[in-house]
Amino acid sequence: MKVNMLRPQLVVSTLTLFLSVAVSAAPPVEITVNTDEPGELISRHIYGQFAEHLGRGIYQGIWVGKNSSIPNKNGFRLDVVNALKKLQIPNIRWPGGCFADEYHWRDGIGPPEQRPVKVNNHWGGVAETNAFGTHEFFELLEMLGADAYIAGNLGSGSPREMAEWLEYMTSDSNSTLAELRRKNGRREPWKVAYWGVGNESWGCGGNMRPEYYADLYRQYATFLKAPDANRPLKVASGGYNELTDWTDILSRIPSNIDGISFHYYTLPSGNWDKKGSAVGFSRHEWISHLANTLKIDGYLKKNISILEKNDPDGKIGLYVDEWGSWYDSEPGRNPGFLYQQNTIRDAVMAGVNFNIFHSWSERIHMTNIAQMVNVLQAMILTKDEKMVLTPTYHVFELHTVFHDSTYIPVTVQNVPRVRSGEVSIPALSVSAAKAKDDNLYLSLVNLDPENPSEINATIDGMAISTATGRSLEGESMDSHNTFDSPSSVSPSAIAATTNENSFRITLPARSVTVLQITPGSDP
Ligand code: AHR
Repeated sequence: MKVNMLRPQLVVSTLTLFLSVAVSAAPPVEITVNTDEPGELISRHIYGQFAEHLGRGIYQGIWVGKNSSIPNKNGFRLDVVNALKKLQIPNIRWPGGCFADEYHWRDGIGPPEQRPVKVNNHWGGVAETNAFGTHEFFELLEMLGADAYIAGNLGSGSPREMAEWLEYMTSDSNSTLAELRRKNGRREPWKVAYWGVGNESWGCGGNMRPEYYADLYRQYATFLKAPDANRPLKVASGGYNELTDWTDILSRIPSNIDGISFHYYTLPSGNWDKKGSAVGFSRHEWISHLANTLKIDGYLKKNISILEKNDPDGKIGLYVDEWGSWYDSEPGRNPGFLYQQNTIRDAVMAGVNFNIFHSWSERIHMTNIAQMVNVLQAMILTKDEKMVLTPTYHVFELHTVFHDSTYIPVTVQNVPRVRSGEVSIPALSVSAAKAKDDNLYLSLVNLDPENPSEINATIDGMAISTATGRSLEGESMDSHNTFDSPSSVSPSAIAATTNENSFRITLPARSVTVLQITPGSDP
């Protein structure tokens, strides 16, 4: 045959030509946004944070003390606090994590020099000075305008200790505890929006069975009393990954429960003994990490279908109060500090998670990325007086427009899949919402590590005036910001070509884009 007569080199170039024609001829992704059928509220609490007494998460990362040479206000790092303000953080979960079930709140009140020094047994065995305690936490919340999500100690505490902490925070009476709070400098009660009863009670929080924990929850929650106008929503400590029995058992508690937590961490390998690196990873690990990220969608679906059955009135929310990337600790660092670099892969991973959370916003009342500063998938990394914003920080900042927006359904067609061996991922993740400013916003994540994505979008029920936004991309799969090069990954402007109620846009490879669609006058 003729082909067999071609010289090998010519065969290769003919094939290359054929392949590139085939690739460039791939049809654009077709997106239809249906503004006529608005869905649920996307709670701003989906953009919650988590700060644990772990490594440099609190000490050095947020709190340096009043006498530090690092510029601070009352001991709080000004650079970090000012950067966090831009994220409009809705809530912070504190003091853990596993630390929460070893924390005794009385250690962290009163004159700092009189507070006991303990050992943080769970994280690195380092000294815990208790310099950052209840009053400092609420001062941070006030600076950031965020709500409190307290994780109470069920594992090694008692119902009395937990109840008294809540009384200390919220009582406006003349009780001894309220007076103690006043003596320690806080006259008015604080608002406590959320209260978690323990953490990971199946593991570090006490190695319990769900049935046993469910009884303890009922007992502890009974004594969590606060004035009517300041009663926190109570969150039971639930399951993780593919587990559903915690959700099932806890959602059958008849009253005094507002939420059940759920934890999911993404590891590139899926193997806790050898998780994978934060930087310098292979194309396969890009794909496997995002494939593992996408698994949360199925886990949420299963847990939510149980809630639909046991709680058809929708009173109990699912609180994904720990999620994020978790990599192997860098050589030479204290493995108990969970410090890791943060790349464009983490930004893409966060964008994918947000789109999934938006789609389940009817039941997902809150999520908390782990963690805010210097720990796991952090917003900010610090080193002495230096600070750097991570790609994940920028994704949170880009998505502030989704806080308390209204979910708008989207259908997508022609989404190619990106493959490595047996593993494959869709090249695009998308969600849409109508924001409080009346504009439509699209979150568009290109998961493809190599190729841009051509998008044709139609907005049903809305004429378009403009379609502009900002995009975060990386030059390589592990592009990241460093103290010496802090802006390698930072958002840049992007615009779509519009025509009546449709637009076209090319998304860069490895990118997260938030597009603002301003309404035009109807034709
Ligand atoms: O975020 C780090 C740890 O991960 C938390 O302390 C714990 O709850 C989880 O296992």
